[in-house]
Amino acid sequence: MCMHPANANDPRPWPQQGLERMICPSAIAWVGTDTPDPEAGLIDRLSDKAVFMMGDNPALPRMPERPTLLDFFRLRFNDFTVQHLLASAKRAMDDGHDEKIVLACLLHDISNGCLVRPDHGYWSGQLIAPYVSEEVAWAVTYHQALRYVPDESVGYAYPDSYDRFFGPGYELPDYIRRDAEIARNHRWYMTSRVVTLNDLYFFEDTDPVDPEIFTDLLGRHFRQPEEGLGFDNSPTSHMWRTMIWPNNFL
Ligand SMILES: [Fe+2]
Ligand SMILES: [Fe+2]
Repeated sequence: MCMHPANANDPRPWPQQGLERMICPSAIAWVGTDTPDPEAGLIDRLSDKAVFMMGDNPALPRMPERPTLLDFFRLRFNDFTVQHLLASAKRAMDDGHDEKIVLACLLHDISNGCLVRPDHGYWSGQLIAPYVSEEVAWAVTYHQALRYVPDESVGYAYPDSYDRFFGPGYELPDYIRRDAEIARNHRWYMTSRVVTLNDLYFFEDTDPVDPEIFTDLLGRHFRQPEEGLGFDNSPTSHMWRTMIWPNNFL
């Protein structure tokens, strides 16, 4: 396994040193695909020289002991998610939207970065809930359902990209219809709706957005825990730890 270039000059030892550290991918990454269940084969390979990985993976940049939200943007989230979130938030900021909306745009697909894709609005809303206002977490949760539902009054149409992603005949599941209806009748509807209006895929070249432009806004609206995300014993700490150590066996 290759050492990530960011770790090249890190003098600290790695866990389980001297042993082969096997990675057993989480079932959600392979179930339903052509990849067979790897667990039994890996268990057969356990020996005094080969164990399952626990702790920092040298193939990933090492996280600081007290990680901040922007550390996850820089060191864990995939490039596509980072660019998409930064561009959405920058667009909302440039349009003069309220800071809570800019923050919701910045976080709306956060679970896609390094955690899980299915029901990403719900996962993302839950992940951030201990650290943002109830309204921001709500807007992130419901943007998933609202993405499918046009609202002509604000110029929002069903996304062309969804026709490409899912095919033109895609039928919405009942829970998405139900939750879009709940959102439409809620006092925070427009907060979530504005997230969907800025939820564009930038397939053309766009200038890279520096995450630091959101530092002040995060200072005002994201309750960064002193112990670091993952270590503050909030109801979602384990989700942040899963992103710090995505390859842990247990
Ligand atoms: Fe989304
Ligand atoms: Fe999005």
